Amino acid sequence: MRMRSGGKGLFSAGRSGGMKTAAGSGEVTVDRRSKLGLCVLCGLPAAGKSTFARALALRLRQERDWAVGVLSYDDMLPPALPDGAGTQPRPSQWKMFRQELLKHLECFLVAVIGGGQMSAPPNSTEAVWEDFITCLKKQDLIFSAALEAQPCHLLAKTVVSRPLFLVLDDNFYYQSMRYEVYQLARKYSLGFCQLFLDCPLETCLLRNGQRPQPLPNETIHLMERKIEKPNPEKNSWEHNSLMIQSTACPVEASLEVTDLLLTALENPIKCVEDNTEQKETDRIICSTNILHKADETLRRTISQTMKEAKDEQIPLNNLKRLAEELNRLKADFLEDLRQGNRKYLCFQQTTDLSDVISSFCDERDTVVQKYFSKQH
Ligand SMILES: *[C@@H]1O[C@H](CO)[C@@H](O)[C@H](O)[C@H]1NC(C)=O
Ligand SMILES: *[C@@H]1O[C@H](CO)[C@@H](O)[C@H](O)[C@H]1NC(C)=O
Repeated sequence: MRMRSGGKGLFSAGRSGGMKTAAGSGEVTVDRRSKLGLCVLCGLPAAGKSTFARALALRLRQERDWAVGVLSYDDMLPPALPDGAGTQPRPSQWKMFRQELLKHLECFLVAVIGGGQMSAPPNSTEAVWEDFITCLKKQDLIFSAALEAQPCHLLAKTVVSRPLFLVLDDNFYYQSMRYEVYQLARKYSLGFCQLFLDCPLETCLLRNGQRPQPLPNETIHLMERKIEKPNPEKNSWEHNSLMIQSTACPVEASLEVTDLLLTALENPIKCVEDNTEQKETDRIICSTNILHKADETLRRTISQTMKEAKDEQIPLNNLKRLAEELNRLKADFLEDLRQGNRKYLCFQQTTDLSDVISSFCDERDTVVQKYFSKQH
């Protein structure tokens, strides 16, 4: 429980203790567009992300007088995803949910930037949209009204008059998951930053065990092996990232975090800035080039996975079946790409290589997990 108490001290209203900085003086006239930021909060399950996010939001509202919204994916996940009854959602369902939430978020951002009201984007799942709306309402970012007997959602005054930060709270353990958020920030020239909450595996496992609906330990083990921490040296788009140790000194850490967020707000992402990178990453399908690349990457991914499975001492027989399953999955993915089939890639709007790879990794994890849990 080191992190939990650390986290509480860190970001609870402690520092403020009744210090309501210039509350009500919403006079700070700001250029809306330059004062809007997205922050990706990532880390293992039970690393303390939600506690952290809540405390951070409270502190920023009090100390900075910002409008802050926390989007906790766990809270918004509909209890009954299709055929997920009583079990964890499958990674592909989770991915669809993630992408739908981003669409909803985009809808909110468009309203903020353009100063309009919000309505559900086409084809949205009602339950997901309702949860999203409830989440924004609870944080006083929007309110509902009836205009000409039509119910609609309007922006709260604070959202329009103050700098606004939205904190996305999920595991975001693959770089490609975070990249989706970055793309959104880039599309609307928003500030963007990432916070990685670094917490020892054992602490996460223990804390997870105390939750009402714990994840299987294997899932957290698996994620710990898979997690791709922000890597600013390798990915220039991740340059605005901060890793926070659960043991960090609270005051120093909160200063660093504020600094990160301020930097993000002051330096919104420019579309032109990343043109070359965009070309690099947002590749369009249908070229033999991408097929070849996908084939190569999936092959490499599989052999890496097999190596890890061997290290886990999975029985030979199962290893063989695992290899077969993964190769079949690879063949299916490549077929989807070649033919424009819709088995695995149906929820993609644009198909770029990193999306394909991340979908594949999601599916692979489901397969692999079967073999890991079999032996325990
Ligand atoms: C909504 O879904 C239908 C059928 O699934 C599809 O034909 C249509 O293009 C979708 N519309 C949008 C705006 O995505
Ligand atoms: C999961 O791991 C924790 C920490 O190692 C342990 O205390 C707990 O008993 C494990 N839970 C299960 C179901 O194995």
